Amino acid sequence: MLQKEELKKVDAVLDDAAGQRGILIAVLQRVQEKLGYLPEEAMQIISERLALSLTNVYGVASFYKHFHFKPRGRNIVKVCTGTACHVRGATSVLTEMENKFGIKEGETTKDLSVTLETVGCVGCCALAPVVTVNDKDLYGELTPKMVDDIIEMVRSEHGTRV
Ligand code: FES
Repeated sequence: MLQKEELKKVDAVLDDAAGQRGILIAVLQRVQEKLGYLPEEAMQIISERLALSLTNVYGVASFYKHFHFKPRGRNIVKVCTGTACHVRGATSVLTEMENKFGIKEGETTKDLSVTLETVGCVGCCALAPVVTVNDKDLYGELTPKMVDDIIEMVRSEHGTRV
């Protein structure tokens, strides 16, 4: 169930979109920016306010990998599994992260501190294998020690204990 403040945010996005056509994707993006993901209740409200079927709203949102229907972690750790990274050990990096964080790829820790994902090539193949944190920090030419350091850094910077 959405909190009052969250409902206000969804309403504000929809108020701004009032009367505009073809606004669904922009609304989904803005609601996700405000809430961090697209909760079922928000999807229902979007459907009602834009006079679109819920199936239609979900159909559009689920087409794009960018949209998320479950809460995500405060830290998004992405292991590149593109060809160059795969050849240079991305699978071991991913397995190590899964074991240390105690979650599988695509999952979020219970305390919402970390979401672990995979990503296709991030354009730094010469540095393979590569991991990104929060889409802003990139770590390349990873060794097992560096993987441990990244995990520790994510835990300590944000007070995470996973
Ligand atoms: S395959 Fe990983 S950066 Fe290109």
